[in-house]
Amino acid sequence: MAYAEAIGRRFGDGGPAGEGVADSEFLQRVMSRKTVRRYSDAVPADSLLDVLVAAALSSSAKSDFQQASILRVDDADRRAAIGKLFPSMPWIGVSPVFYVFLGDARRLQRVGELRGKPVRNGTLEGFFNASVDAALALQTMILCAESVGLGVCPISVIRNEIDRVAAILGLPDLVFPVAGLCLGYPQGEGHVSLRLPRRLTTHRDRYDESVLTEAIDDYDRRRDAIHAIPKEQQRANAEFGEVPFYGWSEDKARQAAKAEGAAFPPYLRSHGFSFD
Ligand SMILES: Cc1cc2nc3c(=O)[nH]c(=O)nc-3n(C[C@H](O)[C@H](O)[C@H](O)COP(=O)(O)O)c2cc1C
Repeated sequence: MAYAEAIGRRFGDGGPAGEGVADSEFLQRVMSRKTVRRYSDAVPADSLLDVLVAAALSSSAKSDFQQASILRVDDADRRAAIGKLFPSMPWIGVSPVFYVFLGDARRLQRVGELRGKPVRNGTLEGFFNASVDAALALQTMILCAESVGLGVCPISVIRNEIDRVAAILGLPDLVFPVAGLCLGYPQGEGHVSLRLPRRLTTHRDRYDESVLTEAIDDYDRRRDAIHAIPKEQQRANAEFGEVPFYGWSEDKARQAAKAEGAAFPPYLRSHGFSFD
């Protein structure tokens, strides 16, 4: 029953708990991971960061095209300029280390030019492949950083100010941020965030959403019992009104109804992507 506790804490859904599976520190760590937004002043050594970057770039890469790039924002002025754009997320400006994981559809096009081949990589396929490569590198960095005691927070909100962020970072056409990553030694404990029940998020042989209503209600109640969303964190009460029970699904529906990232599609279209 090595995993019962970690799986129970993560899902609490009464589903499979890995009976009889040999204990692995890695698996335990993955299932107990948590995003960290507060860091001590200690700055991780450059040599450690070099290893983490090497690990991140060891991720699988679609067709071996290797379309992820990792940009470390070191310069204090650039860092401050990015941080200032997002005052509601102060960790962006102050974490000891800040990376930006880039989908890099440009490099393959440059390779095509170098070798005189007609590569057009501003297609939807090019965008999607570069995004996936960057996301895989990001998650590898996250797990590796956490394995050596660091804490991290991915930062996709930078895409909401894409024009200014791209100017600060000097991003050329066909190169775009998938997410930033704040990184440092954790300050404080944090908590493991309960995930949706696996009877909703896993399928066998055939997609089946028949449990959706029941599973979401169940999840809302259980999550509320562990970490209720305080009244002051409820979104857009003026617009949507107050509700007697404000759970995860009410919160996420309100959040998603206020779509973010309107500047991103026009930015991409004017920077090399046709999405054909
Ligand atoms: C692609 C991606 C982008 C994210 N962007 C932000 C962000 O801009 N700001 C932030 O504070 N957290 C961000 N997060 C962190 C999520 O809010 C967090 O992963 C989620 O609440 C689940 O918490 P957990 O990772 O601790 O389980 C992001 C996570 C991912 C995977």
